[in-house]
Order: sequence, then C-alpha cells, then structure tokens
Amino acid sequence: MTSPIIIAIDGHSSTGKSTFAKAIAKELGYIYIDTGAMYRAVALLAVRHGFVSKNNTIDADSLGKTLSLNPQPDISFRTSGDGGASETWLNGENVEQQIRTIEISKVVSHIAALPVVREYVDRRLREIGSRRGVVMDGRDIGTAVFPDAELKIFMTASPEVRARRRYEEMRSKGQDTPYEEVLNNIRERDYIDEHRQTAPLTKADDAVLLDNSDMTVGEQVLWFKDLLKRRHLCGY
Ligand code: DC
Repeated sequence: MTSPIIIAIDGHSSTGKSTFAKAIAKELGYIYIDTGAMYRAVALLAVRHGFVSKNNTIDADSLGKTLSLNPQPDISFRTSGDGGASETWLNGENVEQQIRTIEISKVVSHIAALPVVREYVDRRLREIGSRRGVVMDGRDIGTAVFPDAELKIFMTASPEVRARRRYEEMRSKGQDTPYEEVLNNIRERDYIDEHRQTAPLTKADDAVLLDNSDMTVGEQVLWFKDLLKRRHLCGY
C-alpha cells in the first residue's frame, strides 16, 4: 500500500485536462477536482451580483467583500446519482450547466486574474487537497497551489484542435456557438492566462509535458501508467 499523493494537471484551456484527469483519478481510485469550475462559479456569482460590466470590467472591491462575508459563499463539488459525474454547487444550488456557457467563458479569465479571487479559491483547494489522494486540474496547481505535488503534468495541444473539441462538447450540450467564436475565445483566454500578474499559466520546471494533439484518451492513460512505472509511484 503506497501513500496517496497529489497529482497536479495544468495546461491551456480545452486541452482535455478534465477528461484525462478523470480517467487517471478513476484508475487510481482518487478524487478528481476541476479547479476551473471553482473560478467559473465565482464568475457566475459576480455576474449575478451585477459586479461585471458589459466590457468585462469587474468591480473587484465588491466581489472581494462578497467573498469574505461570514459565512463565505459556499462552492463545492458533489457527485451526481447518475453515472457519478462531479457537479459544481454554489450556495446550495446545482450550477453545473450555468457555469459552462460562453457568457461565463468570456468573463472567467478576467475573474481568475483578480488576486482576491485567487486567494479565496486557493484556500478552498488547499483544504480539499490536504486529504491527498486527489487529481486536480487547473492552471497553477503545480506552480502555486501545490508546488510540492508529487507528480505534475503540463498539458497542451494546438488552438485549432482545442477549439474543435470545445465546439463539439458545447454542441453535444445543445449550445450552438460558431466554431470561430470558440477559437477566438480560446486564443484570448490563452493570452490572459499566460500574461496575468498573479499566478500566470506556466509549466513548472519539474512538470512532465503532455502534448495530446494527436492522442486518444486511451493513449494518454497508457502514457500515464508508463510514467507512474518509471517514477515508481502509486504502486506501479
Ligand atoms: O479550465 P477552465 O476553462 O474551466 O478554466 C476557467 C478559467 O479559470 C480559465 O480562464 C483559467 C482559470 N483558471 C485559473 O486561472 N487557475 C486554475 N487553477 C484553474 C482555472
């Protein structure tokens, strides 16, 4: 029996991080945490409170005050009865659908760039991760949230491949957004994520690179198992 570890999966948006992270969490019997969903839930909260103006300027002071209220807004993950998918809840409401819309995708990078938001989310993630035995996907898990994670993977793929994947995913959920708009959104988010002042998206020096532009999910899991064997991790 080996002790449970933290696996940090970072990378660009729509690289299939969540699909990969869920698959390896299942393989190891670990909990999967989608940290982007937490930023999306904060974005939804900000929109609902009217803290986001039309040009995506955020009233950071008011949002900061709301996030530090006592009790704080409650963002959590629950497993749904059918199929065991993880769903995001905000103050007792299932918001899994609402946080995946293009409107929230357009505002979330601006929200995630705010230090007050990152402090709030980081605190929640460290609480969850303290139990270990987790796979977390995000942008700064291996660099800022858990720099001591035992295994770090940085995922990437070409913008066109990622836009096609996100477009298909949205269509399957009945959201009809043009491919060009999805591609532009991905490029814009890459830029904001990589250039923000607080915890910008960057590969940790000790992270292993996974470019999955031409890989199936099955191939990625095989690649991962091979990595565990080489590192003598998780009983492999
Ligand atoms: O993975 P996603 O597209 O659902 O992430 C939504 C946004 O949140 C994205 O713009 C990047 C940001 N994010 C972040 O800054 N740090 C994380 N750990 C996870 C997501």
